[in-house]
Amino acid sequence: MPRTIFEPFRIKSVEPIRVTTRDERKGLLDQARLNPFRLHSDDVLLDFLTDSGTGAMSAHQWGAIMEGDESYAGSPSFFRLEKVVRSITGYKHLIPTHQGRAAEHLLFEIAAKPGDVIPNNTHFDTTRANVEVRGCEARDLPTPEALKPRERHPFKGNIDLARVEALLSSEAHRVPFGMLTLTNNSGGGQPASIENVRAYKALLARFGKPLILDACRFAENAMFVKQREKGQAERSVREIAGEIFSLADGCTMSAKKDGMVNIGGFLALNDDALAEEARRLLVLTEGFPTYGGLAGRDLEALAVGLEEVLDEQYLRYRLRTAEFLGEKLLAGGVAIVEPTGGHAVYLDARDFLPHLAPEQYPAWALTCALYLEGGIRAVEIGSVMFGKRLPDGRETYAPLELVRLAFPRRVYTQSHFELAAEVIVELKQKAREIRGVRIAKQSPHLRHFTAELDWA
Ligand code: F0G
Repeated sequence: MPRTIFEPFRIKSVEPIRVTTRDERKGLLDQARLNPFRLHSDDVLLDFLTDSGTGAMSAHQWGAIMEGDESYAGSPSFFRLEKVVRSITGYKHLIPTHQGRAAEHLLFEIAAKPGDVIPNNTHFDTTRANVEVRGCEARDLPTPEALKPRERHPFKGNIDLARVEALLSSEAHRVPFGMLTLTNNSGGGQPASIENVRAYKALLARFGKPLILDACRFAENAMFVKQREKGQAERSVREIAGEIFSLADGCTMSAKKDGMVNIGGFLALNDDALAEEARRLLVLTEGFPTYGGLAGRDLEALAVGLEEVLDEQYLRYRLRTAEFLGEKLLAGGVAIVEPTGGHAVYLDARDFLPHLAPEQYPAWALTCALYLEGGIRAVEIGSVMFGKRLPDGRETYAPLELVRLAFPRRVYTQSHFELAAEVIVELKQKAREIRGVRIAKQSPHLRHFTAELDWA
């Protein structure tokens, strides 16, 4: 077999990329109030803001779109999707939603109450926000290696079982269920091992608590397990994913990631009573239970996407993408979270910009510099996203200042990644010129999406 890992697809339809000058980008970034979320995407050269809903669908998916049945109730498209979800996850009930956070909202409404604590390896920002809006506490309990960017542990997405046990031993009555995010997006796109999921499941079961997965990137996680975990190399990714799902009682899913679609999500559960309650709420906020917030054609595209994502040739290429960029950055002296994650490369902004203090939001400043320098749009996973302004005016800060370059699925080719590496390595040479930022305007929830900033 040749050693080159190539894009296992041909390109049938293309979108032109607009090339801008540095001067243009300076004006555009000022107009966006130094917030990359406020940029127009056609002013971006390489859009690594997110891997969510930004992927390219296959010809097979586009074909399936024409098969979509748009009946309000009982659409065959729903039953097609239900069959696929059941065959992959084994869960009895499929509750479609327009995207992942709607599934999270349903889950916390029906299965948690104010004052509860939800343990997780790391809650993603929307998950945390949905937990907090419910009056609950989102408790991040990642394995200690997850907080050491340079430590090359194969499963930095593991949950810290000792701390889960301590929580359950002292406050089990406050814990309605445990969660696990696969892969751990906020922690670097890092996988959890099957061994960790098994032990977490056993621990929760000892206290009579269910396990719910945040399964957005379940296939990438399963591929990492195949590549890295002892005794898993000979199993298929489908089998590995199936075992992980079988260890849990349900999942929330943003299908915009490993569902390979531009919109969609679901909540899947085994428990009949909970599912019934979820559907009751679904009708209020999303739609009738056989379409959730989606069109029949979306359900069809997702049914195909969930099968395609399990293609191991694709997954090998997918994980190699991040590794490829990571190797180039490391060779150029840029510190990243190691090893590279499934869907993204995370730059360590504290290392990149050692002259900036936490209150100058180094990771945010680096996202601005990446855009100015090379038209690259990335996302801050640092103190603007995870810090807070407390009611007394004090600020809290995140444990890590990371910049995530997240890769849309099947969209960019190897030369795009070579270009990104060139830009970032060159920017590192003049990192001392990068100024910090301060927040001029912010909202109390998910402030990073809309904040307005100034250079400090
Ligand atoms: N859970 C995880 C781990 C996620 O990464 C996301 C979304 C969600 C839940 C919410 O799903 O967007 O469909 O409502 N992550 C995107 C990202 C936005 O850029 O990482 P959603």
